[in-house]
Amino acid sequence: MSYSIAIDGPAGAGKSTIARIVAKKAGCIYVDTGAMYRAMALYLLRRGIPAEDEEAVSAACGQACITLDHEAGEQVVYLNGENVNGLIRTQEVGDMASVTSRYSELRKNIVLTQQKLAQDKDVIMDGRDIGTCVLPNATVKIYLTASVEVRAQRRYRELLQKGENCNLDSVTEEIRERDHRDMTREVSPLVQAKDAVLVDTSDMDIDQAVEAILAVCRRKGCPFNA
Ligand code: DC
Repeated sequence: MSYSIAIDGPAGAGKSTIARIVAKKAGCIYVDTGAMYRAMALYLLRRGIPAEDEEAVSAACGQACITLDHEAGEQVVYLNGENVNGLIRTQEVGDMASVTSRYSELRKNIVLTQQKLAQDKDVIMDGRDIGTCVLPNATVKIYLTASVEVRAQRRYRELLQKGENCNLDSVTEEIRERDHRDMTREVSPLVQAKDAVLVDTSDMDIDQAVEAILAVCRRKGCPFNA
């Protein structure tokens, strides 16, 4: 029988880094669902569709086919057949994804694709609505978070390493705004599922967070030896 591990939480909690490591140790597929909302956001930006125009966004997303594949252990996201992995990690695309992912029409097909993926494969899937909406019967549900200050520090350091010019106050403000949008939208807001285990990584390093998640998986009877 296949199993699924759902990891939800705010931006910057370390979901993707940690989920990727857990997937390697467990021998399952890692699905980064945010990449699909980002690919859709890229499509809308390219078409010049304003984020606030729900009707235009809903009409346009019928023309964008977003699919995922796994190549050499890495997820690849395709937008109408084009590999867009290298184009979706910008601040602009992230903000557009955060604003437009509140529209139910946009979420419909993306959620269906994610559910199909988990049907016949062991997966660890991260996002905002995995435990609450996409996989309500997931074997394991984790709500991964960290304080705003810690998440901002991590993001700030990441940007500096990339050589980007930024300051901690504005990075903190952007994270607060993103949290507010993701948590207060009407459709599939970011909330901790009732049966999710809370893992706060504010005082943990990556290894400790990975171990905390594996411990929950073992407790819940996931059939792997990590
Ligand atoms: O995890 P991320 O930063 O790549 O996600 C970008 C945006 O996509 C996020 O701000 C909200 C949206 N998103 C969502 O609504 N549901 C998901 N399961 C994943 C992401």
